[in-house]
Amino acid sequence: MKQRGAPSSAFCFSSECCTAVFIATLPSLHYSFTASLVARIIIAPSVLAADFSRLSDEIHRIETAGADWIHCDIMDGHFVDNISFGPDIVRFVRKETSLPLDVHLMIEHAEHYVPRFIKVGANSITVHVEPEAKHDVVKTLRQIREAGCRAGLTLNPETAFDLVEPFLGTIDMLLVMTVHPGFGGQEFRADQMEKVRRAAAWNKSRGRKIDIEVDGGINDRTARISIENGANVLVAGTSIFHSKDYAKAIRELRGVPDVN
Ligand code: DX5
Ligand code: ZN
Repeated sequence: MKQRGAPSSAFCFSSECCTAVFIATLPSLHYSFTASLVARIIIAPSVLAADFSRLSDEIHRIETAGADWIHCDIMDGHFVDNISFGPDIVRFVRKETSLPLDVHLMIEHAEHYVPRFIKVGANSITVHVEPEAKHDVVKTLRQIREAGCRAGLTLNPETAFDLVEPFLGTIDMLLVMTVHPGFGGQEFRADQMEKVRRAAAWNKSRGRKIDIEVDGGINDRTARISIENGANVLVAGTSIFHSKDYAKAIRELRGVPDVN
C-alpha cells in the first residue's frame, strides 16, 4: 500500500526532521505557512458522518476535495453511549485511500485493540485519558509508538487538562474534544478553548511540538476560533459530509476565501 508522504505532524519536531525535508515531503497544495512554520492546517474528515451505503465513493470524494487525513471514530458502547465500527471498516478505508488514517478510540481496554488497528493501517491512534477507558495510559501510548504509529491522547470536555499535562512530552498529538464523544452533529463547546491554549503554551515553551487537534462541532466559524486559539488539526464530520460541495466545505474550514 502506497502511503502518501508520512503521517507527519505540522511541526518540525527534531534534528531528524529539517525544514527543507518537511517542505519537500508536503504532498499537495493544501498547506499554508506563516513565518513560524506552524500554520499548516490539517483537515481530517470524520467518516462517522459519511453515507456508509456508498463509503468507497465518499472516501474518494473527500480525498479529491482536499482532505489531509481521514478520521475514524471507534465507539464500543461502553466508554461512550454509541457503537460505530471496528477494524474491518478501517481496513476498507485503508484500501480506498493513501491518506493517513487518524483513528480515535472511544473504547475501554484500548491496549487490547490497538494491534488490530495498526494491522489494518492506522497511521495515528488516539486514546482517552479518563479512568473509565480502563487502560494504562503510559503503556498504551508506548505500545502505539513502538509499533511505528503516531500516538495521540485525548480528554472529554468534563476532564481537566491537568490529567493530560503529564503525558504531553510522550505524545505526538493532543486531541481536545469539543463535544462529549459519542455522536456527530453536536454543538461546539467554546469553553474547551482554554485547553487548546494551554497545549499551545506548552508547545511554545518546549522545543518539541505536538499537534493540537479539535473534534466536535467544527464548522467554518468554530474552525476559526479553534485555529486562533492554537489548534492545527481540525476533525469535521457533519460540516463536510452533510454539505453539497465537500471541496468548498474543506476550503471554508481552512479559511480559504471561496473564489467560485
Ligand atoms: C464525536 C466524534 C467526532 C464526530 C465529529 O464522538 O469523536 O469525531 O464524528 O462529528 P461532527 O463534526 O459532526 O461534530
Ligand atoms: Zn473523533
